[in-house]
Amino acid sequence: MSTDLEKLSEFVVVANRLPVDLETDEDGGKNWKRSPGGLVTALEPILRQRDGAWVGWPGVADEKVDPIVVDGLRLFPVELTSQDLAEYYEGFSNDTLWPLYHDVLVAPTFERSWWHTYVAVNQRFAEETARCAADGATVWVQDYQLQLVPAMLRELRPDLTIGFFLHIPFPPVELFMQLPWRKEIVKGMLGADLIGFHLPGGANNFLFLARKLLGLKTTTAGVGVRSALGHVDFDSRVVKVGAFPISVDSAELERQSKSESVLRRARELKEELGNPEKILLGVDRLDYTKGIDLRLQALKELLDEGRLDPEKYTMVQLATPSRERVQHYIDLRSVIEEQVGRINGDHSQIGRPVVHYLYQPVDREELIALFVAADVMLVTPMRDGMNLVAKEYVACRGDLGGALVLSEFTGAAMELRQSYLVNPHDLDGVKNTILTAVHQDPKEGRRRMAALHRQVMTHDVHQWAESFLTALSPPEPRPDNQFVT
Ligand code: ADP
Ligand code: G6P
Repeated sequence: MSTDLEKLSEFVVVANRLPVDLETDEDGGKNWKRSPGGLVTALEPILRQRDGAWVGWPGVADEKVDPIVVDGLRLFPVELTSQDLAEYYEGFSNDTLWPLYHDVLVAPTFERSWWHTYVAVNQRFAEETARCAADGATVWVQDYQLQLVPAMLRELRPDLTIGFFLHIPFPPVELFMQLPWRKEIVKGMLGADLIGFHLPGGANNFLFLARKLLGLKTTTAGVGVRSALGHVDFDSRVVKVGAFPISVDSAELERQSKSESVLRRARELKEELGNPEKILLGVDRLDYTKGIDLRLQALKELLDEGRLDPEKYTMVQLATPSRERVQHYIDLRSVIEEQVGRINGDHSQIGRPVVHYLYQPVDREELIALFVAADVMLVTPMRDGMNLVAKEYVACRGDLGGALVLSEFTGAAMELRQSYLVNPHDLDGVKNTILTAVHQDPKEGRRRMAALHRQVMTHDVHQWAESFLTALSPPEPRPDNQFVT
């Protein structure tokens, strides 16, 4: 181990995944590649700025990887066996918690053996973190895969200041109550000094559960956005609960979107797509929460009804492969690929597909060029904690061009009020709104984009991290008189 890695860290991020995945190429060589998802997009610049350590899984099973510095980031890999992968990651995290926390869009599986593995793996993450954190360090635990880590870590290292942030929606109480291990999860999170959610609704749901499920004393006044924290009296400590909407590295995205190479690539992309009048764009992990199938259905009907001319409009849909061994994801991929095939079969011409579909991640510069080239960005999740793609698009549209169609069921909709908001359960509404965005008056479009752009530029990921970490740091005086059971 290099001396840099032997040094204990004052600031530690703990997440299921490291910001990079270990990949083996055809010749058996090992490479690190950016890992998928919004959590990594958001936290990577934060860790870079604060010179901390990151504890997480390197993205492959049964691989023991020593601590390593990759691209200036100090990484502490946690090994997952094939069984851990099946039961902790694909099972409990992504086939129990993920659907339960996303409105039960598909039925969650409650499997006792998965729970036991979830507990064991959370313990391993806590132990690895305890080893690399300096005395009195700040540790920031991330997301639904690691909800037990705050309490486990506090047990091992009471000297640490521990924050926890949930990147996905915290569900309505009626849904959360289905979980057989609901008390254990709430107690696990209460190991933190501060528990953060994207929206006040999630924070308020959590406070209600702490009161009703565990009989704890809590404050009852509504939690605000980056303000008016809630408090829970637990185990002789006061745990703070707040809402901190996550964002993107707006200035960096804007800078890149204006670079000569990106502008050139955006022009090339338009040409490669056959210089359509307008380009519609979707960018998602292939996940049933994202409403990719819904937007393709809307497009199909608009084309079938002759309301959208396939010679004038083109859609690009990027879908990053995700959780490819979980059945719901396998099924969704087939549905989407059949939809794309149908649309193209019915409406394309030789060399001019209506839908360009890529089942692969693209590199950052190419993605930014696509944002710059796209006239209408389609973000239509059935449920999404935040959705960073919507914010990335807006950050890249400092030219005030483009239009954002955004589902009301994303966290981002709370802030991006000047987008074309849609209810994803109302297909006719989605179709009409897509047409409105496609045909928007340029002046109206600029007015909307100016407001959106201002919002995203003034509320970036650095402000998000700063507001969370500031709320985490000062010891809170006990506001005893405000607590109720
Ligand atoms: P989630 O975290 O659920 O995947 P977000 O929208 O919050 O959803 O974040 C997704 C992140 O992954 C964004 O930074 C987005 O740019 C990136 N991303 C999504 N799809 C692709 C793709 N096909 N290629 C490259 N990056 C992608
Ligand atoms: C969402 C989750 C993250 C997760 C990411 C990618 O953003 O909130 O915790 O890392 O999706 O999913 P994956 O299962 O590939 O890590």
